[in-house]
Amino acid sequence: MKRLLFLLAVAAFAAACDKPVNPADINIIPLPVKMETGKGYFAVTSQTTVSYASHDLKEQAELLVRLVKADTGIEMTVAGEGDGGDIVLSLKPEVGDDDAYRLTVTKKGVRLEAANPRSAVLGIQTIRQLFPADGGKMRLPAVRIEDAPAWGWRGMHLDVSRHFFAKQEVMEFLDLMAFYKLNKFHWHLTDDQGWRIEIKKYPQLTEVSGWRQFNNHDLGCIAIARRDHNPDYMLPQDRLRERNGVTEYGGYYTQEDVREVVAYAAALGIDVIPEIDMPGHMSGAIAAFPQLSCFDQAGWGETFSAPICPGKDWTLQFCKDVYAEIFELFPYEYAHLGADEVEKINWEKCPHCRRRIKTEGLANEKELQSWFVRQMEQFFIDNGRKMIGWDEITEGGLSPTAIMMWWRTWARNAVPLATAQGNEVILTPNSHYYFDYQQHANTLRDLYAFSPVPAGLDDAQKEHLLGIQANVWTEYIPSRARMQYMTFPRMPVFADVAWRGETGREWDEFYPRLLAHFPRLDRFGVNYRPLDLPGVYAVNSFVGETSVVWDYPLPAVELRYTTDGTIPDRNSQPYTGPIHIDETTEFTIRMFRPDQSAADIIRTVYRKEEYRAAVEVAEYTPGLKCVWHEGIFNRCAQIETVPIKAEYVVEAIVVPKGVGGKRGLVYTGYVEVPVDGIYTFSLTSDDGSMLYIGGEMVIDNDGPHGPITIDGQIALAKGLHPIKLYYFDMDNGGVICLRLFDAAGAEIALDISTLRH
Ligand code: ACM
Ligand code: ZN
Repeated sequence: MKRLLFLLAVAAFAAACDKPVNPADINIIPLPVKMETGKGYFAVTSQTTVSYASHDLKEQAELLVRLVKADTGIEMTVAGEGDGGDIVLSLKPEVGDDDAYRLTVTKKGVRLEAANPRSAVLGIQTIRQLFPADGGKMRLPAVRIEDAPAWGWRGMHLDVSRHFFAKQEVMEFLDLMAFYKLNKFHWHLTDDQGWRIEIKKYPQLTEVSGWRQFNNHDLGCIAIARRDHNPDYMLPQDRLRERNGVTEYGGYYTQEDVREVVAYAAALGIDVIPEIDMPGHMSGAIAAFPQLSCFDQAGWGETFSAPICPGKDWTLQFCKDVYAEIFELFPYEYAHLGADEVEKINWEKCPHCRRRIKTEGLANEKELQSWFVRQMEQFFIDNGRKMIGWDEITEGGLSPTAIMMWWRTWARNAVPLATAQGNEVILTPNSHYYFDYQQHANTLRDLYAFSPVPAGLDDAQKEHLLGIQANVWTEYIPSRARMQYMTFPRMPVFADVAWRGETGREWDEFYPRLLAHFPRLDRFGVNYRPLDLPGVYAVNSFVGETSVVWDYPLPAVELRYTTDGTIPDRNSQPYTGPIHIDETTEFTIRMFRPDQSAADIIRTVYRKEEYRAAVEVAEYTPGLKCVWHEGIFNRCAQIETVPIKAEYVVEAIVVPKGVGGKRGLVYTGYVEVPVDGIYTFSLTSDDGSMLYIGGEMVIDNDGPHGPITIDGQIALAKGLHPIKLYYFDMDNGGVICLRLFDAAGAEIALDISTLRH
C-alpha cells in the first residue's frame, strides 16, 4: 500500500512537471507578436550554460549571464562558441527584419534566434521577463515566441539640464529602457539652466555653465519637499559646490563619462541621440560666452530666453566646434539640433542679424531661423549625420533632409506637411508623451488608448513616420526618485504602445500584465507612482452614514492615513478594512512601497450632505449658455475679469465654433438629474477648469496644464441644479470634457436631454 502511494505520488509529480503552461502566468511587456505555450519548465541553476553559435553573439551571451545574475542571483556560465549550451544564442536572418527574434523554451533548454546581435538583446529581455516576477522558483515556462516591433524608433528622452542626473542614474534609466525594449535614448544635454557635457575647446561651458545659483524651479522643489515631507523633491546634496563663498548647484559629464554611457547603452542595444539645443535655449552657454548673443548678454524675451546671434560668424563657428566634438563622442546616424522655442525679438533689432538677413536675401527672422538650421544641417551632413529638430524647424521653410520631431500636439499641420514633403518624422506629442506632466486617475489608460499618429495621413505619408518617443523634462524633477516617479509606470505602458503600434491594443488585456510588473519594479528598486485609489475623488459625498472602502490593486503597497490634516508617515494608521463614518471626514492618505518609501500625499474629503434641493425654474430651453472671454489666463478666476468677446448656446460641453485659441469660457445653466442620488462629475481639461453645482465647488482642475481628469461627487435631489463651468486654454490646443455618472456608475449624457438654460 505504501509503495502504491509512493508510485502515485511520483506519477503526480511527473504530471505536475509537464503541466501545460498557463498563458495568464506570462506577463511580458511589451506583448510579443506571437506566443504559444507548451508543457513544463526549464529550470535555471548555477549549472546552466549559455553558448553562442556565432562569434558575433559573444557579448550578448555575457549580457544574458550578467542580467540573469542581477535579476535572480543565479550565476550561469558562458560555455563559449557553439550550440552545446543549455541556452543557445544564434543568428538567423530569416526570422525577420531588424529587431526580430524567435525564442523557444522547452524542458531541455532555450533557443534564441535573432535577426542580428541587437535583436538578440531584445530576446534576452523576453527571457528575463519569463522568470517569475515574485522571485519564486527560478524556471522558464515552455513557450515559443516570434516577435518584432511595429515601430523602429522607440524612444525615451531625458533632460539633464534643468537638473543634472549622474552617470549611474542615466545607466539605470537605460537598464529600465532596455527591459522594456526601448531603443533610442534622446539625451537633452544643454539648455538655459545648465550645460552638462564637457567640450574640450570651450572648458568654460562646464566650469561656468554647468553650475548655477538656485533658480525658481530649485526653490520651488525645495518648498514642495518641505511642505509635503517629500524627499523626492530635495536637490541631491552631492550636486552642490561652494565657489567664492556662493553655493552653486549643478554637474556635468566628462567626455570619458559620455563614452562610458554610450558604450553601456550600446551593449543594451540602445542608440544615444545627443541634443545640444540651439539657437534658443542657450542661456547656459551664453552665461560663459556672452558674445554668442546679439547684445552680449543672457536675458529673457516675451516668452523664451534670448537666443544666440546667427548674424555673427563666430557664433556659427562655436556651434560647429561644439558639434564636431559631439560627433566624435556619439557614433550614430542621428543627432538632435533642438531649434525649438526661439525668441526672435533680439534678431529684429540686432545689426548683425539685420546684415545676415540682407546678405542672405532672407525675408524675415523666421527665415533667419531656418537659415541657421540649414547651416547647421549642412555641417551635420558633412559629418555623415542626419539632423533631427523639434517641429519648429518647419518655420521659415523645412529642409528636405531634416528629420522632424513633432511635440506640439496643437501644431496639427506639422506632420501632414512634413510627411507630404517626404521628411521623416518622430512622434512625441506633448499631450500624452510628456512624462513630466502631472499624473491623474486616467493617465495610464489615456496613454494606452492614445493614437500618436495624426489623422488624415495617407499610406505614403505614414511610411515617413520613424516611430514614437516619450520625453522627460525636468524643471520639477530634481532627483532620481522623482524622475522614476514621473516615468513609472508610464514607461512600460508607453513601451507596449511603441512595440505593438496602432492595432490591437486593449486596456483590459494590458492591465493584468501591467499589474504583474509591480513586483518587478519593486525588486529593481524603482520609485514608481503607485496606482490610483479607485473610487477616491477630490470630493466623495454621502448621505447619512457610509463605509469608506479602498479596494487597492497593489497588494504590496501599504495605505496609511490621518483624519486631522497632518501628513501620514510610516507610523500612521494603516488601512486594514472599511472605515465607518457618519460625519464629514477629511482624509490625508499616503501610500508606502515595500521598501517603505512614500508616494505623493492624497487629500480627499468624504462630505456628509443632504440631497441638495432642486431649483424651480419657470422657463428654460435646452443647452447651456457659453461666453467667450478672449485672453491668456493662468487661473479660472481671471476669466471674467476681461470683457466678453462672444456669446453662444451649446447643446453639450464643447468649444463653440468660432472661438479662438486664446480662450476663457464660462458655461452656465442647469443640469437635470433623474432621481435623488450621489452624482459623480468627471472633468477633463487642458488647461484649467472648475465646476460648481448649486454654487458649491465640486471640482478644482485649475491652473495651466495638459489634459488632466479630476472627479468629484455631490448629493442631488431629482430635478434642476445650477451649473457653472469655467475653462481656459493658453492657445496650445486645449481640451474640455465633462461627464456625469449616477450612483451605480452608469453614465448620464450631458446633452439637450439634461442641460438647460
Ligand atoms: C519642447 O518641449 N520645447 C521641445
Ligand atoms: Zn543677432
